[in-house]
Amino acid sequence: MTDTKTGHCIWITGASSGIGKAVALAYAQAGYTIAASARSQDALETLAADASDMAGTIVPVPLDVTDKDAAEAAVEQIERIIAPISTAILNAGIYLPVDPSAEFDPAPYLNSMAVNYHGTIHCLLPVTQRMLSRRSGHLVILSSVTGYGGLPTSAAYGPTKAALINLAESIKFDLDPHGIRTSIVCPGFVDTPATESNAFPMPFLVPTAAAAQRIVDGISAGKFEITFPRRFTFALKFLNMLPYRLYFPIVRRMTGRG
Ligand SMILES: NC(=O)c1ccc[n+]([C@@H]2O[C@H](COP(=O)([O-])OP(=O)(O)OC[C@H]3O[C@@H](n4cnc5c(N)ncnc54)[C@H](OP(=O)(O)O)[C@@H]3O)[C@@H](O)[C@H]2O)c1
Repeated sequence: MTDTKTGHCIWITGASSGIGKAVALAYAQAGYTIAASARSQDALETLAADASDMAGTIVPVPLDVTDKDAAEAAVEQIERIIAPISTAILNAGIYLPVDPSAEFDPAPYLNSMAVNYHGTIHCLLPVTQRMLSRRSGHLVILSSVTGYGGLPTSAAYGPTKAALINLAESIKFDLDPHGIRTSIVCPGFVDTPATESNAFPMPFLVPTAAAAQRIVDGISAGKFEITFPRRFTFALKFLNMLPYRLYFPIVRRMTGRG
């Protein structure tokens, strides 16, 4: 575990719901101080109240990650009022399935990039700057197995997650020598509000609390990639190593699309 019990805190974005909320509660249960960010102030306050009888504390820090100045101000506020950030879990994200054979509005593509990729960058850089001055810290970025390779209906979401995997691989080279760890989280399907409207079958759907525990354990172990459930995510990883003449027909057969 990181040293958050001794005067540091964990910052989680997208903490009002789903995976981020479950990770915040898992850390609060274990006695840590969490700065919890998302746009919905009410949901963050409810979350803080839910943790009030736990060993740790959750402090709401409302933030829209698409606002670069607000993200910088949030980091400054957390470090000044709560504690220095030892672990930043950059989890805020939106999932917008698209059908490029029927819809021609660029908005879901641009909004996905604005929240999932640009939003992560807005949070990552100010927190990295502070971690560099301390020569310690852990950056945890939420991607997805959708980032491994193209999948049906993922043309807006998938590229944002592929970009985050590449970002994490790149910063690992640059930040390791400065004492800052990087992790990328690539889950399969997790049972959250984001996936509940999916009309297709979701193999090996993971309950939110189980997903949170996998993430907490992976962070503790200092893993670069945290991926689960492995029987699903390793199969996808393998598929993406195949030549395209095999990849496309297998994915078509598996998903019944295309
Ligand atoms: N569920 C899955 O199967 C799955 C699989 C792989 C990866 N993931 C990734 O895991 C992360 C969490 O997803 P989830 O399934 O837990 O979804 P979720 O329940 O919809 O939660 C998304 C969180 O992001 C926040 N958020 C959205 N836009 C934001 C913005 N502009 N600024 C700040 N916060 C914002 C939301 O809060 P507000 O609306 O209050 O702002 C919410 O707290 C995402 O990055 C997602 O891509 C999920």
